Amino acid sequence: MKYLILSDIHSNKEALSAVLSHVRRKRCDKVVFLGDLVGYGANPNQTVDALRAQKPLAAIRGNHDKVCSGIENGELFNRIALEAAMWTRRKLTRSNLTWLKALPQGPLLVDGKFAISHGTPIDEDAYIFGEIEALNVFRQTDFPLCFFGHSHFPVIFGLSPDAITTILTVAPTFKFKLEEGVRYLINPGSIGQPRDGNPLASFAIYDSESRVVTISRIEYRVAETQEKILKAGLPRPLADRLALGR
Ligand SMILES: [Fe+2]
Repeated sequence: MKYLILSDIHSNKEALSAVLSHVRRKRCDKVVFLGDLVGYGANPNQTVDALRAQKPLAAIRGNHDKVCSGIENGELFNRIALEAAMWTRRKLTRSNLTWLKALPQGPLLVDGKFAISHGTPIDEDAYIFGEIEALNVFRQTDFPLCFFGHSHFPVIFGLSPDAITTILTVAPTFKFKLEEGVRYLINPGSIGQPRDGNPLASFAIYDSESRVVTISRIEYRVAETQEKILKAGLPRPLADRLALGR
């Protein structure tokens, strides 16, 4: 099975469309989504519609999906994130709001092959930035392979019997074969708001037969997305950061 792994889309329609048309020829069997479909960007309904149209789909909620759909009130959000979340809540159609609200909480096991979580499999709102956090997650869980999001930072953590390793991807397309006897925590990066200093949309494809993970970066119409954010009256930093990838 070939899985298209998407995370942190954040209402960025241009980035999501670019990724979906880029992977059309690759014939993925299933779309897997790691949460944060909305929040920050100007096209919440279009992005929810586009993801809902993907079939088959395995999806979980992110922290922004919870606040934008009204499950949580966003008391831990900063001012800009909260303003965008409240704007999103007002814009979402009833159908999309109901669909977002019903997204399950991670971790979720996909086809018995791998787990997915938004933050960590233990706490959907917690971040994995580095090896210390990754090691703690490895110790408290037993998933051989888990894809996660939330940090908007593409990275592979591998735990072998004697060491933990970090692989940071810098190539536009990075192929990695999973080794036997090593456990993995893998972040495909963010579609709609990358934060690793690279503004290109980031996503992964996992081939469960060959056990190869490919993390790719592709261009999209950033200027168009920025214009829409400003036109919608959303905070300017949300537009500015897209060009910087942070
Ligand atoms: Fe996010």
